Amino acid sequence: LNNGLARTPQMGWNSWNFFACNINETVIKETADALISTGLARLGYVYVNIDDCWSKLTRNLKDDLVPDPNAFPSGIKALADYIHEKGLKLGIYSSAGMFTCQVRPGSLYHEHGDAELFASWGVDYLKYDNCFNLGIEPKKRYPPMRDALYETGRSIFYSLCEWGVDDPALWAYKVGNSWRTTEDINDTWASMTTIADENDKWASYAGPGGWNDPDMLEVGNGGMTLEEYRAHFSIWALMKAPLLIGCDIRNMAAETMKILSNAEVIAVNQDPLGVQGRKVHVEGTDNCSQVWAGPLSGNRLGVALWNRCPQAVTITAKWETLGLHPATNVSVRDLWEHNMVSRNVAAAFSVKVDSHDCKLYIFTPVALLHLPM
Ligand code: GLA
Repeated sequence: LNNGLARTPQMGWNSWNFFACNINETVIKETADALISTGLARLGYVYVNIDDCWSKLTRNLKDDLVPDPNAFPSGIKALADYIHEKGLKLGIYSSAGMFTCQVRPGSLYHEHGDAELFASWGVDYLKYDNCFNLGIEPKKRYPPMRDALYETGRSIFYSLCEWGVDDPALWAYKVGNSWRTTEDINDTWASMTTIADENDKWASYAGPGGWNDPDMLEVGNGGMTLEEYRAHFSIWALMKAPLLIGCDIRNMAAETMKILSNAEVIAVNQDPLGVQGRKVHVEGTDNCSQVWAGPLSGNRLGVALWNRCPQAVTITAKWETLGLHPATNVSVRDLWEHNMVSRNVAAAFSVKVDSHDCKLYIFTPVALLHLPM
C-alpha cells in the first residue's frame, strides 16, 4: 500500500503468541519498558501490538468500541501516550467481520467510526483479522478500512490478517502494508516449516510498501529447539517477513535474546532493496537439504543453508543456483558466528550444518584488481 509506511518489513512485538487473551495494560507497559531496557527497540523493534481481547464484549451507546475496564482501566489513549513517550508505536487489533476471533465486536460496517476512534487514541498500527466475515470475500471487506484509516489523516500501518484466503499477494499490495499468506503459526517445527514453504510461493509479490506475512515469531516460546528457532529467525529475516516477537520479553532466556537481537540478521530483513529471498535449491530425502537466497543492496546476496534433515549434513550452494557466474569470486560472512569465513571463494560453498539448524551468510562479490605487469 502506497501510504509511505513499510518501506522495510515491520518490526516489533505482539501479545497473541504468548499471552493470548491474558493481556492487560501492565503487561503492555512492562513489555514496552523491556523493549527499551533490553536494547531491542534500538535494533528496530518499535511496534507494541495489542492483539485480540482488549475490548469489551459490547459497544457502548455511541456504538464505539470500549477497552475492557478490568484489563485496560486507564484506556488505550493513556497507553499510547506511555508508549509514544518511549519513542515506540502502538498497534491495535480488530476484525473485518461481525466479531473478532475471540468474539469481541468486529469492525465490519463500523470502519469509519472505529478508524476515527483508533486515530483519536493515537494508534499507529492496525492488525485486521478475518473472523465472522459473513462469507464476503476479503477483497471486498479489507479496502473499506484502508480508506477509513486514510481519511483519519493519521499515518497508520495496515496489517491484513486474512489467513492467505483468496491469494492476497495478487491484490493486497493495493490494500495493506502486509498480508498473511497462511493460517496461524504454532510453536512447532512442523508448523514453522510448512508456513515457510507456503510463504515462499508468493515471494515475487513482496516489496517496499507491502510484505508477505507468514505470521509472527515463536522464538522463545519453548516448543522448538534453539537450532529450530535460529532457522525460524534466519528464514523469516531472509523472506522479508514482519519481525514481530511473540514471546514474553520481560522474562527471556539469554539464548532467545541472542537470536532476536542479531543485528546482522536483522539488517538482512531490513535491507533497502526489499526483495524476498526464496528457496533456490533442494536435495536429499524429502528435499531436506535446502539453500535459500535473495539479493541484497550493494550487489550482495543473503544465503541460508537450512538443514531440515534428521541428521547433520553438508550443504552446498552452487553459484549457478544463486544466479552467479561460476568464476565470480565472493567473500563469505557468517551472520551467526559474526566472522568472515572466506575472502575469496568461487563456484561453490559447502558447510556442515547440524540437524534443523540454519546457517546464514552474506556473499559479497570481490572486485579483482588486474595490475599491469
Ligand atoms: C486469528 C489470527 C491470530 C490472532 C487470533 C486472535 O486466529 O490469525 O493471529 O490474532 O485470531 O483471536
